[in-house]
Amino acid sequence: MIQMVNLRHDEIPSRWYNIIPDLPSPLPPPRDPEDGPSRIANLPNLMIGECLKQEFSRENWIDIPGGVMDLFAKAGRPRPMFRAANLEKKLDTPAKLYYKGEFYSPTGSHKVNTALAQCYYAKAQGFKRVTTETGAGQWGTALAYAAALAGLKCTVFWVRSVYDWKKDRLSFMKLLGADVYASPSPMTEFGRSLYEKNPEHVGSLGIAISEGLEDSQKDPTATYSLGSVLNHVLMHQTIIGLEAQTQFEIFDDYPDIVVSCLGGGSNFGGFALPFLGDVLKKGKKTKFIAAQSQVAPNLQGTYRYDFADYAEITPMLMMYTLGHKTDMAPVKGDGLRYHGCSPILSLLRHEGFIDTVAYPGDEKHVFENARIFMETEGWLPAPESAYSVCAAVDEAVKCRESGEKKTIAFNISGHGFLDIPGYRAVLGLE
Ligand SMILES: Cc1ncc(COP(=O)(O)O)c(C=O)c1O
Repeated sequence: MIQMVNLRHDEIPSRWYNIIPDLPSPLPPPRDPEDGPSRIANLPNLMIGECLKQEFSRENWIDIPGGVMDLFAKAGRPRPMFRAANLEKKLDTPAKLYYKGEFYSPTGSHKVNTALAQCYYAKAQGFKRVTTETGAGQWGTALAYAAALAGLKCTVFWVRSVYDWKKDRLSFMKLLGADVYASPSPMTEFGRSLYEKNPEHVGSLGIAISEGLEDSQKDPTATYSLGSVLNHVLMHQTIIGLEAQTQFEIFDDYPDIVVSCLGGGSNFGGFALPFLGDVLKKGKKTKFIAAQSQVAPNLQGTYRYDFADYAEITPMLMMYTLGHKTDMAPVKGDGLRYHGCSPILSLLRHEGFIDTVAYPGDEKHVFENARIFMETEGWLPAPESAYSVCAAVDEAVKCRESGEKKTIAFNISGHGFLDIPGYRAVLGLE
């Protein structure tokens, strides 16, 4: 049995897949709210020019610039795909399990894929600094890394409930030269309005996005870089699924079920969209499952226009949302604690192509399954990626009960080497 497939450097996809022209119905565009200034007219002041162009592109395939391909090589692409043979044995399942190793990354996660592209474009446009939000800290680290390679400064607003317990990741970002602030912070006007009322405010991704946007708007040499949700971010991440498709050809298999965790949607979209394209264009019957937390089950929210950030600086996006001002309790897989889901994935969910499962906020079932994965496969998933593992294991257990020999593919979006205090808290590893 083949245990692992990697690709040669010249087999890395040289184009990103843009699913928008293949969607079953037109993607609703961003919209302005009824009151206040036009957020859409302000987009060129908020976003990197090339990313804004890609956001609205209707081209099916977009060439990856040579400079970005070089950065991918530096960051260790391609990434391997494994057959989880030990896990299958332990679960005594007839299912075949495969996982993509996005944890083979200099900063720990899939987030480098779009960070490198965005910093490449930001530098080419003449910016000196990038600002951003981060939840788990993986996106902040990825952007700090990409900015360092591109010769840009980087400012990160980090959701306080996570900033407080991931000290090593904080030092990691600082080693990469980033300025990092717990959010809500006293550094921005909006952050200050919340911070002064409650300096212990746990924060949220929606709040941290507002702070990053405000910071970049006040500095003409800075631009804002978003780590998820938007069309161009998911498109940059399709390198994951495109590689996986080639790897499945070498395994001589094809997934019946594709699973990944979903916060704003970037790793789920990156992994699943090429396979979803096969469903839409080639009549494949693959089922897609997004793993979420019950503290932020945004795919079970309502499908409507809502803001992407708390302070309403962004345009409104048509998406599944829990409401941009909704309070959500912190969890260890905090990168999943976001109120809205990417418009592309929301549309596909609305049209019945994506199922979802949301796990209890105590995270015990999730982390117990991640522990089984560790004991059998030897890799420590990031807390967010533990949700992918858990949903894949739950599907494999269903196959044991039904006797079905399904092929299940899941994405390990990051490693948890800097998240061990989270595992310790949930599993009591003293
Ligand atoms: C390792 C990892 N996986 C998944 C996520 C969830 O984000 P997204 O839905 O954009 O992949 C995060 C977010 O921080 C993350 O750090």
